[in-house]
Amino acid sequence: MLHHSSLSVQSRKAVLPALAGVLLIAVLVTACKKNETGEAGEMNMTPGAIEKISPLKSAYAKQFLVGNIVSGANLEGQRFELIKRHYSIATAENAMKPSSLQREKGVFTFEAADAMVDTVLEAGLKMHGHTLAWHQQSPDWMNYEGIPREEALENLVTHTKTVAEHYKGRVISWDVLNEAINDNPPNPTDWKSSLRETPWLRALGPDYVELVFKAAREADPAARLYYNDYNLDNQNKAQAVYAMVKELNEKNPDVGGRPLIDGVGMQGHYRVNTSPDFVEQSLKRFVSLGVEVSITELDVQAGADSTLTERQAIEQGIAYAQLFRVFKKYASHIGRVTIWGLDDGTSWRSATNPTLFDEALKAKPAFYAALDPDKFAKENKALPVKEAKQAEAWYGTPAAALWNTIPAIPIDQYLMAWQGASGTAKVLWDEQNLYVLVEVRGAELNKTSRNAHEQDSVEVFVDENNSKTTWFENGDGQYRVNFDNEATFNQTTIAEGFTSAATVSEKSYTVEMKIPFKTITPKNNTRIGFDVQINGASAQGIRQSVAVWNDTSGNSFQDTSGYGVLKLVKK
Ligand code: XIL
Repeated sequence: MLHHSSLSVQSRKAVLPALAGVLLIAVLVTACKKNETGEAGEMNMTPGAIEKISPLKSAYAKQFLVGNIVSGANLEGQRFELIKRHYSIATAENAMKPSSLQREKGVFTFEAADAMVDTVLEAGLKMHGHTLAWHQQSPDWMNYEGIPREEALENLVTHTKTVAEHYKGRVISWDVLNEAINDNPPNPTDWKSSLRETPWLRALGPDYVELVFKAAREADPAARLYYNDYNLDNQNKAQAVYAMVKELNEKNPDVGGRPLIDGVGMQGHYRVNTSPDFVEQSLKRFVSLGVEVSITELDVQAGADSTLTERQAIEQGIAYAQLFRVFKKYASHIGRVTIWGLDDGTSWRSATNPTLFDEALKAKPAFYAALDPDKFAKENKALPVKEAKQAEAWYGTPAAALWNTIPAIPIDQYLMAWQGASGTAKVLWDEQNLYVLVEVRGAELNKTSRNAHEQDSVEVFVDENNSKTTWFENGDGQYRVNFDNEATFNQTTIAEGFTSAATVSEKSYTVEMKIPFKTITPKNNTRIGFDVQINGASAQGIRQSVAVWNDTSGNSFQDTSGYGVLKLVKK
């Protein structure tokens, strides 16, 4: 077995260092294609060049399985060698999603996924199935907007049963349902009202959750059945998932000899400043349900534009070390920890370098952190905490001429997978008010969701005394205005005296807000906590993108500690 595809990965770095991503992908694809026809032999490099470092799976052999994702490219040559060396279980990155397995109604296309699963099993790894039901990456006919109940029921059950039965005995577990809970649900103990607005929910009601798990259990009674979601470090979202699993397992304590839901999958698409404490709190919460927990799609974003400084690489290592320490602590309840991406070059979030290996397949500090988190943490003592970003607001009352002269604050750090609407903010102030002008581009302009935060909208966060509390006190507030100038507030008392205006042109819109000060009368050089968020809806009206200025915690709506700092200056 030779190491063709990995070749191209290494050589693209050496030979083509300055070429743009698109070209690199083209090179990679060409190289992979060549592999299929066996023509790439001449390009060969030293075979077996993967580093002889300790296998990650061995470090956790007594605790949990360690996994990574497979696509065609990962099952050949050096890349496959790397998979086999470090990992004990695989998840198909895309090949087992509904859009891959039943693109046309009634026509199941298992060939590609079967070949993948066979290769994985022959190599002695286990296989996890991802995913039976999801509102994304499903064919249009399956769960379109307005689908009648009977049709939705048939589609959901037929797909689930056929696929689960097909892979019976070959996968040890399934993500039965993926990403069905809203982000930051405001009333999380009521899980039904926290369910994401999808065609499945609209056609079938909250019962669809129970229904799809029952279908999966019936089709493959041995497979462990998971509910899988992202942002579960958010306590509100975790609480909603907890309430859902609790109720469904209490209602169905014995479905084929055990409770209906076997496990909760915490995807774990994190950032370097994700709080390991929140991750631990959620893990503990799920463990208390008596279910298994797995970390199913772990990656940790660091750096940008596909570059990672040495310092950022260490910071990322520290984040991985902190997370793996938590996983070790709860190891007896953890089934598997799967990394989402073999290397930074092929990660779905390639630009932010989130995996354990660089694009030349060399182990990064993150790898050594995952391998031995205690050692890594000891050797790389906490670097100074990342400072909040700073920007200036200028003194004055809004006027076009003034807006044009003041500096623009970029709202361009993305919190979700999709990187949609972004923009800039400009801020003016006087003794009574803060004036914020946000210019948004790249929006789909959709406000059909009943949840205001899922509509194309702009949010401004203010912490008047800049005390960075992890809760909202007097003088803290979240002001949201959609592209149609409809405003919503958290806390509700802050609405008084607030005014706004919005203008729209194609995929851009502008929101202007006047926000009265409540607890301070600012002077020159007063500093306040401040942030801006841009919510981007998909064409179906579901929030698919969130861009912020400073606070990447996803928690700004209830916690001011991550806000940036705005200095109010008189020029
Ligand atoms: C991603 C894949 O990595 C990409 O190749 C694809 O284009 C989009 O989906 N949550 C999930 C995964 O459950 O299926 C997603 O995978 C990442 C987010």
